[in-house]
Amino acid sequence: MVHDITRILCQAITQSDISYFITDKDGKIIFANSAFEKNTGYSSKEIEGKTPSLIKSGKHNSEFYQNLWNTIKTGSKFKSRIINKKKNGQLYTVMLSIQPVRIDGEVRYYIGREEDIEGLMQLESKLIESQKMESLATMTGELAHNFNNLLTVIIGSMELISEELKEDSPTKKLSVELLKSAKEQAKTIKQLMIFARKQNSSEIKEADINETLRDLLPLIQSQVGSKIRVFFIPSGTIYKARIDENQIKQAVLNLTSNSKDAIDGTGEINILTYTINNQTEEKEPYHTGNFSVIEVQDNGSGIPESAIEHIFEPFYTTKQKGKGTGLGLSSVYGIVKNHGGYVYASNLKPKGASFKIYLPSAK
Ligand SMILES: Nc1ncnc2c1ncn2[C@@H]1O[C@H](COP(=O)(O)OP(=O)(O)OP(=O)(O)O)[C@@H](O)[C@H]1O
Ligand SMILES: [Mg+2]
Repeated sequence: MVHDITRILCQAITQSDISYFITDKDGKIIFANSAFEKNTGYSSKEIEGKTPSLIKSGKHNSEFYQNLWNTIKTGSKFKSRIINKKKNGQLYTVMLSIQPVRIDGEVRYYIGREEDIEGLMQLESKLIESQKMESLATMTGELAHNFNNLLTVIIGSMELISEELKEDSPTKKLSVELLKSAKEQAKTIKQLMIFARKQNSSEIKEADINETLRDLLPLIQSQVGSKIRVFFIPSGTIYKARIDENQIKQAVLNLTSNSKDAIDGTGEINILTYTINNQTEEKEPYHTGNFSVIEVQDNGSGIPESAIEHIFEPFYTTKQKGKGTGLGLSSVYGIVKNHGGYVYASNLKPKGASFKIYLPSAK
């Protein structure tokens, strides 16, 4: 069978879901495929004879375009991330590459290709986010570790001193106050150490997450009160996971405590478990494999849009002074990381929030 390569090439580009356009050597568009039409909102008719400056967003300076032209005019390929503008004014970011096309050794045309990198950029920002959290954890861990040592010495010594002091003496009262305050600070430091994964008492063993959660339900119900209904929706088949049961229970309690605060009056909390097979990198960079998921959903106020990227940072709270320390979710973060998993927050429609804890399944 003889293959008509010219026709195949033409159809391949026409049918591709990647945007392609071809210009003459002056940059006037002579062809755009349907993906280009779809992505820019311009029809072939509207584009033909125009230059790609039609989709300029105004987000790059003139040097950028100068450099583009200088590169392709000399016969080299230009490749860069670029922000363009659709017909309806919407901006979009793509990876643009423009390749000169030589005919008889001379640059006669240019072929442009615009690849959608929306997913890649989301992944990238997740990666930056997780790097930020990791450096925060390293710094917090160092500080918390040193403070913990210091507080251990202070509390130990003060307890000895306090025993020597006469009851009802002003110094005894002072020592009691000092001890109280030091012990309170020690609690905060312990939470920070959980975030930074500096706590060294981890009891990891293989467990059935459904059973772990079932054990916890009465405690959750008493924590959230009778106005909030708690539903447990376990998956029938769930992977065993290697977990520290107490830590995972603590993490779920921190989530349900937040749900309680987000629900004003009556409401519902759903606790679901399920499995995710062959999770790809779509949601989180470098996370692949099988996961057991614990999801806590509520129909409360939802997470404020401006808060969502900060909620796992230590001391981040939107609650009034005295109502929240902002350490609940950072502990959840530390616990989940300690299990090699990850935690993911989103808002629900019509209202409420969802937190998903992904735990790698036991091999
Ligand atoms: N289920 C939820 N619904 C709405 N917002 C939430 C929810 N969970 C967390 N948040 C938001 O995330 C912030 C941080 O939560 P986090 O548990 O870390 O701290 P906190 O609850 O404010 O204080 P703490 O847990 O130390 O008492 C909250 O202040 C709130 O704005
Ligand atoms: Mg909290």
